[in-house]
Amino acid sequence: MSPEAEERDLAEAYLGGLLASLGLSVEYVRAEKDTLYRLDEEGRERAVLDLVGGYGSTILGHNAPELVGYAKELLDRGVPVHAQFSRHPYANDLALRIDAIVKRELGPAEEYAAIFANSGAEAVEIAMKHAELDRIMRLAELEAEIDAAAERALAAAAGGAPLLADDTLRRLAAEAGLPAGAGTDEVADGIRRINAARTAAAAPVFLAPEGSFHGKLVGSVQLTHNAGFRTPFGALAAQCRFVPVHEPDAVAKAVEAERRTLFALASDADGVRVVEHELPVIAAFVLEPVQGEAGIRPFDRETVRRIQDACAAADCPVIVDEVQSGMGRTGTFFAAAPLGLRGDYITLAKSLGGGLVKAALTLVRTSRYRKEFELVHSSTFAKDAFSTLIAGRTVDLLEADGGAVYRKAAERGAHLTAMLRGLQEEFPDVVREVRGRGLMIGLVFHDQSASASAPIAEQSRAGLLGYALSGYLLRVHDLRILPTASATDTLRLEPSVHLTDAETDRLEAGLRALLTLLRNQDGDALLPP
Ligand code: F0G
Repeated sequence: MSPEAEERDLAEAYLGGLLASLGLSVEYVRAEKDTLYRLDEEGRERAVLDLVGGYGSTILGHNAPELVGYAKELLDRGVPVHAQFSRHPYANDLALRIDAIVKRELGPAEEYAAIFANSGAEAVEIAMKHAELDRIMRLAELEAEIDAAAERALAAAAGGAPLLADDTLRRLAAEAGLPAGAGTDEVADGIRRINAARTAAAAPVFLAPEGSFHGKLVGSVQLTHNAGFRTPFGALAAQCRFVPVHEPDAVAKAVEAERRTLFALASDADGVRVVEHELPVIAAFVLEPVQGEAGIRPFDRETVRRIQDACAAADCPVIVDEVQSGMGRTGTFFAAAPLGLRGDYITLAKSLGGGLVKAALTLVRTSRYRKEFELVHSSTFAKDAFSTLIAGRTVDLLEADGGAVYRKAAERGAHLTAMLRGLQEEFPDVVREVRGRGLMIGLVFHDQSASASAPIAEQSRAGLLGYALSGYLLRVHDLRILPTASATDTLRLEPSVHLTDAETDRLEAGLRALLTLLRNQDGDALLPP
């Protein structure tokens, strides 16, 4: 570091200070598989076992040699990185590879179009933005249909067709303040007025399970349940209603509460009547198959079925966010696969870049796809040759040997989970739960806010206990483990498929020391001196 840089820090200095106070301000100088290296006082490398795994972006480990070699090869042969607005056959190759996986894991029913992006939040926002384009186009199509039907009905009325009174007409008349015995012309006027008001009032809403995390950009942060991240920016984007999806009726009720209709005239041989059509208000229902930042919470088939049924009833698209859970981490390429969850949109990022590059993808079911989106959305780096080719090679590595990586993720995950469950049995007073799927695991601690140790109780009440535990594990045991963003009582473990038995043993020793210290309420040993 230059002498000046030691004095001045303009790169998120406040966060740096917070990390330092928790003992987490460490610079890593090299990375390989599940190890990050820092330098000790003598300048020698010291190995830290990394269970954070780039927050889920290194399923193949840090600096996977096959990908590093391929990256060098691409640069050596002068691959044109930036050629936006030209033909990108390699992007289509990647889309076709993913399509084959979709068909294998989610069923052959339909294809997905692929839109490329740079980050997870951007992939989510592409899904949101596309869903909104689709919603307003469906609305415009509906309005055109209603206008055409009104013209036909008025012509029929002019030819003597009677206006048929029923409940729908009575509701319209009450809302529009129509006089008793109003004619078809007046009814048509009333419909126009009420529809205009209903359309104007119908801002798009998103629905998502409580605990959801979908990124921190202006749009996606509104889908992120954590109020601290979300509420200051509520005025900037469409709103989300968070649903307690584990209550049996909650999803159906939430969908029902948002449903709106438009009135229309319809005519047949009997005469003219007033009918109603669904006004699309819900832009999409958004969910993670395994919630990451909520504390590693896998969904079950029954909850997913309720969500899909309620959305199908209201023709509401489902966005499945696989940014953290996807790319083989849970034992299948898509964590949605064993849940019977087939989204209208699927997002991928993190490990898609093989741990080396930034790459993200939004898949859109072709029956929902609006080609017009391609003319209104782009980004300088999205689909660049370097990142996209590395993403393609990453998918090849995952798919090699009939999916050996997926089997390994399941097996390594089961081994790690068994170790953690053993610790839970040994320390039931400290460990509340071990949950997750494959290599996406949460170690949940009992609340410590009533601890006899003042520092432990304090950290717990401040919602910082998970970070204090992380600081201890790093300082004393060279283990890098961090809590989930919105459930800081949960430590996340997302190592790569290379995690060895010896590394799991090392992890066990460090965790046992931590659990002993918490059992003994030894706050002095937990926090930095
Ligand atoms: N969706 C999910 C499910 C995520 O976990 C994340 C990020 C994002 C979207 C946003 O992706 O960071 O590439 O823009 N999760 C990070 C985390 C922040 O802490 O695990 P991004």
